[in-house]
Amino acid sequence: MKSLAITGNFPEANVDALAVTVFKGEKASSADLKELDRISGGLITSVIAADEFKGESGETALLRFAASGKVKATRLLLIGVGEKAEYKTHDVASVAGTAVRFLQKRKTKSFALLPRSAGNAVEVAQCAMQGCITSQFEIDKYKSKDKTKATVNSFVLCVDGAKPADLKNGLIRGQIIGDSMNFTRDLANEPPNILTPTEMANRAAKMAKETGLKCEILDEAKMTKLGMGSLMSVSIGSEQPAKLIVLRYTPTKSTAKKNEYLALVGKGITFDTGGISLKPGDGMEAMKYDMSGGATVIGAMRSIALLKPTVPVLGIIAAVENMPDGKASRPSDVVTAMNGKTIEILNTDAEGRLILADAVAYAEKQGATKIVDMATLTGAVIVALGDQNTGIMGNDQGLVDDIINCGEEVGEGFWQLPVSKEYSKQIKSDIADIKNIGPRGKAGTIMGAVFIQEFIDKAKWAHLDIAGTAWHDGVRPHQAKGPTAVAVRTLVKLVEKSQ
Ligand code: BES
Ligand code: ZN
Ligand code: ZN
Repeated sequence: MKSLAITGNFPEANVDALAVTVFKGEKASSADLKELDRISGGLITSVIAADEFKGESGETALLRFAASGKVKATRLLLIGVGEKAEYKTHDVASVAGTAVRFLQKRKTKSFALLPRSAGNAVEVAQCAMQGCITSQFEIDKYKSKDKTKATVNSFVLCVDGAKPADLKNGLIRGQIIGDSMNFTRDLANEPPNILTPTEMANRAAKMAKETGLKCEILDEAKMTKLGMGSLMSVSIGSEQPAKLIVLRYTPTKSTAKKNEYLALVGKGITFDTGGISLKPGDGMEAMKYDMSGGATVIGAMRSIALLKPTVPVLGIIAAVENMPDGKASRPSDVVTAMNGKTIEILNTDAEGRLILADAVAYAEKQGATKIVDMATLTGAVIVALGDQNTGIMGNDQGLVDDIINCGEEVGEGFWQLPVSKEYSKQIKSDIADIKNIGPRGKAGTIMGAVFIQEFIDKAKWAHLDIAGTAWHDGVRPHQAKGPTAVAVRTLVKLVEKSQ
């Protein structure tokens, strides 16, 4: 996406269309709309007068007019965003994305965007560019014909009173973050016969090479040697060997406090059949996205490598396939994790926590003092929070609050659930230290979290259950249906704020 940023609110740029934010109940005579209304020959006035456009969030109207003078555009797209007082900087991403998707259907190649946000210029430009880029992602990669074509290839961003250098910087940042989110989404969308644990490791290694991250891939022999009996118990039923992907970002000059070291750890189950505790066939195909936590870590690490914050970050992805087979783990098996704890496996479908147990323990062994893990861990979180909020739990309220606040800034919702000692008691096993499930039908999301907590030693830790938010079933005005790359933006913000 080519882009140009200009300071000012009147686009005389050589573009096919103009797109502008309109607030709820706004009049065509308002300062920003007046000139556009004049250019279009009073079309804004007439659609508002006819009650055809009210500025409600999600509303769009396309107006056609004749080009005249310096204005080459012949179309004006109004994008409603609701109440002006509630318009946030991050909404600019959806506005830009809505404009691109709307205009693309009409074969438009270029447009000028007036986002009309009062936010920081770098962030406005960043959101605009990110929104343009993420709006063009489609899940039709494997169609041999009739693919959606990305016709929009350039846009001009118009922000009144902004410094050109800030806008330029924001556009570059938005490109990095948008491309990284699409990288995550492409991984999550891949069919599991293509994206095996080995292929996931290859893609991460290639990305690391391109962006200057260090990448180490631990194979099964290495993991067995390290005592990762919990992770290996999931992989044992699969023909595909597991991989532990380790990505390291080291800044040239670190400003990290007291050896503080953040690790991002992701669940990378490339397909979850449930194992011997086999899932029902209906809907099982959705389980290709069970590696979304791992894909999020890969996308966030890509952004971090290119944005170059001054703190080190460790990224760990446990890439494993969960299959039933003659060698697969059985309900009632007992295995020993890397930290010496013994686990009674009562349900082989609660496999995400089994791989994360060893992955978080490994992160801490590598020196991590703060660990954020993310996983499509439980169906229960979908029942509790739907697709609007990611479930968050942790042992350190400061870290949990930091993530919730970063999420609010970028427009991603997190909702906290408790992880008190009473819950941990419910995963005590009769024959081993702990068991991998809690009582049937009770606090399923929390049970997953308190299980992972058993493998954290001293680190501050937060767990994100993204089962409800990593995939969106319907198409939205600014985004295709399918993988969402949830948490990439929040994690990038978290890292940048800790500099
Ligand atoms: N990958 C699933 C969680 C999941 C389920 C995500 C549905 C998205 C939609 C996970 O491995 C799983 O199967 N969890 C079980 C845990 C149970 C056996 C304690 C679940 O949620 O049913
Ligand atoms: Zn499962
Ligand atoms: Zn799973």
